[in-house]
Amino acid sequence: MSQVSKLPFVDYSDPEYQENPFRWLADKARKLKLARSERGVEILDYQLCREFLIDRAFGTDHANLVEKMGLPDSRARDFKRRMLLTQNRGDTRKRIRNSLVQLIGPAQAGGLRRDIADVVSKLLDGISGSTINLKHDFADLVPAGVYCRWVDAPLSDARFVADSSEAVLAIFRRDPSLTKSIVAAYDRLFDYTKVQLEKRRADMGDDFLSRLIRIREAGGLSEYELEDFAVMLIEASTDNTAHQITIAVDRLTAMPDVWQAIGKDSSLAGAAVWETMRLWPRSISTSRVALIDTQLNGTPIPAGTTVFASFGAAHRQADIFQGPHRFDASRPQMPPHLNFGGGAFSCLGQFVANIEVEEAVAQLANRYPKMEVKKAEREYTPMFQIIPNLQVELEGR
Ligand code: HEM
Repeated sequence: MSQVSKLPFVDYSDPEYQENPFRWLADKARKLKLARSERGVEILDYQLCREFLIDRAFGTDHANLVEKMGLPDSRARDFKRRMLLTQNRGDTRKRIRNSLVQLIGPAQAGGLRRDIADVVSKLLDGISGSTINLKHDFADLVPAGVYCRWVDAPLSDARFVADSSEAVLAIFRRDPSLTKSIVAAYDRLFDYTKVQLEKRRADMGDDFLSRLIRIREAGGLSEYELEDFAVMLIEASTDNTAHQITIAVDRLTAMPDVWQAIGKDSSLAGAAVWETMRLWPRSISTSRVALIDTQLNGTPIPAGTTVFASFGAAHRQADIFQGPHRFDASRPQMPPHLNFGGGAFSCLGQFVANIEVEEAVAQLANRYPKMEVKKAEREYTPMFQIIPNLQVELEGR
């Protein structure tokens, strides 16, 4: 029997996981640093998660995911094989990441705040009715609207962008019954971005697609990579952020003092959002595959093993975060939360995502200090926290 199969088993189908996932994970982590589950090895310890994220013995798990999902010959499969997520460390990964850093890296993100604030404000101006589904009617449209602004597309495209991102990210549910709809969503995205690129080529400007076309013309990207890039920007930039906005509003409105304080002073939003991402991260885990025979905390891990860093567990570790279940926005930001992963595969959109969530929260709290959640549908996969429906009364209490 392998050492991995001797690890204690954690069962995500336990109904208590759905009831209270972060307490459930914290409870496991109090007894275990390493476990196994139906999907692979689980790292539950904060320090071990951080070491793992930068460990060169582990690489991207995305190619395995594509195989598991049985993607047929299609543009989606070609895209997945070529694109950033399936590239391990090396020149291609570096080159693609660098092109993206030029658009949305830390140096650029600050300058994007004005645009983001403006998109949020326009979306709020367009809200009608006293009760809305905050996820569908607002949060989805924030990152999707920002994408439209980036590529100089009309804000009315935001619904399509948001729905497409949600449809293709369903790949992380690891459920092959969804493969057909995922491939169809990629087809729609490729058709859409092809038209956008043609428009830009006919009328170049300073938008992201024009800038990527210039990188292509200077030899920094192939034609395929240019098209892939346009699709990847939609894929990666939208659904995670929309969910994190919804999660933040769900949790922060449950603390009226905190919500109202942010509404009066928007400079409080940054720390509140940071703490929300620690306590209720959109990314409950991220995955890697062992590239060679290696070990974790003394347990031998054979090459080919899929391993997950459980941020949900690590973020509630008492010796790292004092009073780990308590919301405390005055907590020091070090050690950091892991919601955006780490190392060579870390989230490239984290600077933009932080601003989008902060702006959405600050402007909502300012306009609607009495906002109240009336109904929430919350779902927890081992990978993600999902809120498909958050009914809020805008003028609440
Ligand atoms: C709150 C919102 C977001 C969350 C929680 C999130 C989370 C993540 C996580 C966990 C990863 C994998 C990191 C790892 O395995 O170490 C990732 C990768 C990535 N994210 Fe995000 N993300 C968000 C928003 C965005 C945005 C707005 C963009 C783009 C504008 C973006 C672009 C990417 C890209 C391109 C990758 C792949 C990086 C690579 O493989 O090198 N993300 N994200």
